[in-house]
Amino acid sequence: MIRTIALVTPGGDAPGMNPAIRAVVRYAIFHGLKVKGIEHGFEGLIHGDIIEMGLKSVSGIINRGGTILKTIRSRDFEKKRNRLIAYENLKREHVDALVVIGGDGSLRGASVIAKETSLPVIHIPASIDNDIPCTEETIGFDTAVNTALDAIDKIRDTASSHERIFIVEVMGREAGYLALEVGLTAGAEIILIPEHKMSLGEVCKKLREGINRGKMSSIIVVAEGFGKASDIAKVVSRSLKVEVRVSVLGYIQRGGAPTAGSRRLALVLGARAVSLLLKGDKNKMVGMEEGKIVATDFDKVLRSRKNIDFGDYRLAEKLSK
Ligand code: F6P
Repeated sequence: MIRTIALVTPGGDAPGMNPAIRAVVRYAIFHGLKVKGIEHGFEGLIHGDIIEMGLKSVSGIINRGGTILKTIRSRDFEKKRNRLIAYENLKREHVDALVVIGGDGSLRGASVIAKETSLPVIHIPASIDNDIPCTEETIGFDTAVNTALDAIDKIRDTASSHERIFIVEVMGREAGYLALEVGLTAGAEIILIPEHKMSLGEVCKKLREGINRGKMSSIIVVAEGFGKASDIAKVVSRSLKVEVRVSVLGYIQRGGAPTAGSRRLALVLGARAVSLLLKGDKNKMVGMEEGKIVATDFDKVLRSRKNIDFGDYRLAEKLSK
């Protein structure tokens, strides 16, 4: 029987983690459960950084980016002996089930905990990279897209004033989901993602064709997984003999008040995670597909691949002419 659940937010933070924490805590307490928060991610689990959580612990956080439980990217958790210490800490705290909120690294950690202990574990996908399969969207992605969009709309003003080419680098780790969504919705002239090989020669040819059509300013959105904006800028300005400026958006994409979209996803997935545990379900990742909440076995998620929507890529190309 589940009386006490624990909650942890390992790995990179994402805007929307706090609304998810709020949903898990409040839904659990509403159903008579106790909640313990694990601070500093899996590292905190090894060190026993475990706190009691109540309704008050999560008031005033629905609009805050980041995670009130703090996080650390922990390599120590990869060592079995450290995990055994972590499991002892969970036992000492009488934890009956675990909710893990985070990206692909935290999903792998959640799956290992589920395999090595008899603890029921539910994972809630939160990452600005949106690179986790078995869910159309991860918590924080919509907010990161809107943050980047807001920046690029501002950059477009100065790009068109100075008739310059701007190369804007966005996060996304090895994947291009963030760059594609930002590029499409920003009306970027060129989108460079790791999933679609494009030579810098092709990039220069496209820009030259634009200039010949009278397009004196352009925005190129590049995923960090494709390459460095500064390197691309050197090649483009040498080849086209035009002014090229670079903007690396960096960590602003990880913060900020979560959008309605990220909050809604966080609230419904947070509540569903607890209701699954109450029903005796376990070792699944909750997600959203075709507007419906889904729960997928860890093994299936870890075996699955997420594909880039090349339909969006081709649409962006057609609309950028
Ligand atoms: O996974 C989220 C993310 O922001 C990636 O987009 C980026 O590559 C990475 O984390 C940065 O990692 P760190 O927070 O360790 O600098």
